[in-house]
Amino acid sequence: MTDFTSQFPLLTTRRSVPARSLSSPGPDEAQLRQLLTWAVRVPDHGRLAPWRFLCIRGETRQRLGERLAIRARERDPGASEASLEKDRCRFAHAPLILTVIARTQPEHKVPEQEQLLSGGSVCFALLLGAQALGFGAQWLTGWPAYDPEVTRWLGLGEHERILGFIHIGTATEVVSERERPDRDSLFSDLSL
Ligand SMILES: Cc1cc2nc3c(=O)[nH]c(=O)nc-3n(C[C@H](O)[C@H](O)[C@H](O)COP(=O)(O)O)c2cc1C
Repeated sequence: MTDFTSQFPLLTTRRSVPARSLSSPGPDEAQLRQLLTWAVRVPDHGRLAPWRFLCIRGETRQRLGERLAIRARERDPGASEASLEKDRCRFAHAPLILTVIARTQPEHKVPEQEQLLSGGSVCFALLLGAQALGFGAQWLTGWPAYDPEVTRWLGLGEHERILGFIHIGTATEVVSERERPDRDSLFSDLSL
């Protein structure tokens, strides 16, 4: 019988590395271009390219973290120092964060759901691509992805929303496997 497990190790071992365990080096410019090239190959009904990328790297990561902590206190004046520090460090670990932004056309004949799903595929393609290049990666959202003030700083327009922050870097720990859903219990055959 064909041993798919060892034949396709990337698909078999695909998993996330927590952002806090990602460090430098991150992808260089050539690797970044390659990641984007893979990412834009996703299925896209109507060829709308209903997504774009906003790269967060360098000192911008710390500056964004400072702003997040201030914003977090505005949202919750009783926020603990520990949670504010978490916000300060949100983007400080991985050297590269690719923000995947959906830019949908709600009135288009291709349903908006399909445009969003294409963007979700972009996020997953980035995770796979990062691992293929030997990096660790994690897809995160958290409150900043949905906060109107944060999305304003990031320059999002009408009909744009953040689908994910894809944190990419060198894994500093070996992440243990987590239990995966039982595929057989999720599968059925249509019988008509
Ligand atoms: C849309 C989306 C948003 C996510 N946001 C978060 C998040 O904000 N915080 C978090 O801890 N995990 C989040 N996750 C989960 C992680 O990306 C990841 O699935 C988890 O670390 C398990 O790793 P795995 O890829 O090996 O299953 C999110 C996943 C998805 C699909």
